[in-house]
Amino acid sequence: MKKMKLLFLFLTVLSFSAPSTARSRFGRESDLWDVYEDIWGHKEVADKIIDFVMSGPGQGQVYNRLATMTDKFGYRLCGSSNLEDAIDYMVDEFKKDGLENVHKESVKIPHWTRGKEWAKMISPRPKPLAMLGLGYSVGTPKEGITAQAIVVRSFDELKARATEAKGKIVVFNQIWENYSQSVQYRSRGASETAKVGGVASLIRSATGFSIYSPHTGQQSYEDGVKKVPTACITVEDAELLWRMSQRGENITLSLYMEAQNHPDVTSYNTVAEIKGSLYPEEVVLVSGHLDSWDVGQGAMDDGGGAFISWQALSIARQLGLRPKRTLRVVFWTCEELGIIGGQSYYKKHAHEAKNFDIIMESDKGTFTPQGLQFSGSEEAMKIVKTLARNLLSRVNATVVEKGAELSDVGQWLNLGVPGGSILNENSKYFDFHHSNGDTMTVQDSNAMDLCSAVWAVSSFVIADLDKMLPANRTIASLPFR
Ligand SMILES: *[C@@H]1O[C@H](CO)[C@@H](O)[C@H](O)[C@H]1NC(C)=O
Ligand SMILES: *[C@@H]1O[C@H](CO)[C@@H](O)[C@H](O)[C@H]1NC(C)=O
Ligand SMILES: *[C@@H]1O[C@H](CO)[C@@H](O)[C@H](O)[C@H]1NC(C)=O
Ligand SMILES: *[C@@H]1O[C@H](CO)[C@@H](O)[C@H](O)[C@H]1NC(C)=O
Ligand SMILES: [Zn+2]
Repeated sequence: MKKMKLLFLFLTVLSFSAPSTARSRFGRESDLWDVYEDIWGHKEVADKIIDFVMSGPGQGQVYNRLATMTDKFGYRLCGSSNLEDAIDYMVDEFKKDGLENVHKESVKIPHWTRGKEWAKMISPRPKPLAMLGLGYSVGTPKEGITAQAIVVRSFDELKARATEAKGKIVVFNQIWENYSQSVQYRSRGASETAKVGGVASLIRSATGFSIYSPHTGQQSYEDGVKKVPTACITVEDAELLWRMSQRGENITLSLYMEAQNHPDVTSYNTVAEIKGSLYPEEVVLVSGHLDSWDVGQGAMDDGGGAFISWQALSIARQLGLRPKRTLRVVFWTCEELGIIGGQSYYKKHAHEAKNFDIIMESDKGTFTPQGLQFSGSEEAMKIVKTLARNLLSRVNATVVEKGAELSDVGQWLNLGVPGGSILNENSKYFDFHHSNGDTMTVQDSNAMDLCSAVWAVSSFVIADLDKMLPANRTIASLPFR
């Protein structure tokens, strides 16, 4: 055994010394060529992974695993027993799957409950309004809030009509341009309402498509501003109220919410690994969040992203593959109420930044994949492009775009750690997002297999290259260390 190890070490030293002479002779470009050759050398293993997922024993596995979990536990709101039960279930599943170092890392998370709630129009004619209270919202008094409505298109319009808004329920019927623009109203609508003396706010759901579906989400009260109850309503009702108000009709609305903020509770990020054979302390991390809103099944946001991340490790394990670096999967807890699990992990592990080769997250759908989104150095970008073009063409995922979408792990980019996310055909993502429509019916087994293949090939190969992706990883002087 000892002898074998020595021989191995000798061979390793040999194989490492060759490229380093080349490096001193040819400089940086030759470094990149070494990495490209290393990638081409992984064609066989990449094909093995793709075959396993697309036509072998792995076919349909990720969809079935996700359906089993989401059908069993349903949605998984921060602070709920559903979420904690799902976390414990994942620990068992990771262990049953033969993954290593399976453990939970504790996190203090907020606990908000919705309770009973309703909204209705009283006049000019009675009509119930489908609604969902927004995260962190306070409730109404027991008798509810009944008041006249003012309907506006924008914050600017609200400011211009500030005197009119006093004592009223402010309805925001912002035009949908895109999520990042529309979500401003969901996040800030309540505080802007309170600033002009409004008594509650109802926000048009942040979606470009609706079949009368309210879409919930987090909102943030501004410090020092009165907290008024806030909920989202459907696109259809927001437009109805807007049309009525434009005709000069007087609208009276009634809102009832039992929403409550409770003391923090303990939850957990869930972690499992395949230890690296050569550089176990260096890590390629793949992830998604396990928590969801308390609607639908959280199958898309973010069950799919979390489960393709598990699948990336699971496929390697089932094929008996062990990369040079450690492959680590993390299921974040409590993303939806403010990236709580992701931030806690960052605080605990930022001092290990130099060991993080790349941090990957999937939280924007697991529809048909097209490739990857990447944040990092130019050289690293070239490497990821080479990987996608050469190893992912069989699954039509050869596009690499600049700019990874990293909801839980964005902070790591500030430490120079490269980031990756999955580029997929997610134009329908916000149709289902944070609504009762987010169920397994959104997911397609074949598309999930393709996503798993992309995720497994890219994470495994990056973890198995001779060198980490080129990056200036720093340990910033962090206030918490
Ligand atoms: C979203 O729309 C706003 C307003 O039209 C625009 O300024 C912004 O660039 C858009 N953002 C994205 C990500 O497309
Ligand atoms: C709306 O209500 C205001 C005050 O309550 C009243 O002056 C006005 O005439 C009403 N307008 C209509 C169209 O009923
Ligand atoms: C890749 O795209 C081609 C052309 O659109 C299609 O024929 C093929 O089925 C796709 N392959 C996969 C694995 O989806
Ligand atoms: C790292 O920083 C050095 C010095 O600023 C720079 O020359 C080099 O290109 C950087 N490398 C990467 C991979 O970003
Ligand atoms: Zn999400």
